[in-house]
Amino acid sequence: MVECYAPANIALVKYWGKREAHLNLPLTDSLSISLAHLGTTTQVSESEEDSLCFNGEEIEQESALFRKTFAFIDRIAKGRCALRVVTNNTIPTASGLASSASGFAALTLALNAFFNWNYDRKTLSQMARLGSGSASRSLWDGFVIWQAGSADDGSDCYAYPLEARWQELRIGILEVDFSAKKIGSREAMQHTAYTSPLYGSWQKTVAEDMRNLQAAIQSRDFTRLGEIAEGNALAMHALMLSARPAILYFQQASWQSMHTIWQLRAQGLPLYFTADAGANLKLLYLEEDSAKVKDVFPHIQEIAPFASS
Ligand code: PMV
Repeated sequence: MVECYAPANIALVKYWGKREAHLNLPLTDSLSISLAHLGTTTQVSESEEDSLCFNGEEIEQESALFRKTFAFIDRIAKGRCALRVVTNNTIPTASGLASSASGFAALTLALNAFFNWNYDRKTLSQMARLGSGSASRSLWDGFVIWQAGSADDGSDCYAYPLEARWQELRIGILEVDFSAKKIGSREAMQHTAYTSPLYGSWQKTVAEDMRNLQAAIQSRDFTRLGEIAEGNALAMHALMLSARPAILYFQQASWQSMHTIWQLRAQGLPLYFTADAGANLKLLYLEEDSAKVKDVFPHIQEIAPFASS
């Protein structure tokens, strides 16, 4: 039996749209930050027949989760034996945080260990990508870039870590809605790319944001990091709003929290947010402002992505 862990990640410059769907090749680069202890631990062992246990619950063979998991395993481990997969999230299930990134990354690492493939991280990133695009970034801690590449076979499409560390950086997960989303990110990004009249501007927006965000990380310019991350997330949601028909993940409480964040910022607090394909916000701030942020948002779950490194 082998056991592997992978962290969840949050993109500061988002992946939203594919240049090829079967291999999960993105149209643009993206840049994320891994969530340290929030992630997935997965065990793999040999067994009589395929079985899956997720967060302590036996998953039925007919379920979508079971089929998705073993379709992925069949794709990367051809001619395999029957397997028992036991997977547990340290991301609170109720937090509404996507767990597919850490889930597919942990499963890829566990299969690599179980079958003694000894693949390097770049190859593992490419394999994890086949499960979910953002999983390609969950093989490392800290800041990670997923480069889109241009090869048709995806050979130059993988993620890699940035050297930069930023001890004082904090992420606060602000829960707005715990229920499952009505439309998944895979479907939503395709719909946006096909129908939004604004989608043509996305590549240029991301190219600029990627360049400026890397400069902000290098120079430890938090204001710049916050502006880029928040602007990029809102641009992604604006694309969805302009899709036909529109996709709107934000709810009343998401908008209210945005107004509160903007008010606090107008009063001088360097507080920003990002948001994925869901109603929840992820707050971005520095350690020195942690108490002030928690005064206003007492229920956030705070993560220090670089604290233990
Ligand atoms: O990897 P997927 O298919 O779950 O898509 C991720 C999409 C976003 O979370 C919204 C953006 C990103 O880059 O993680």
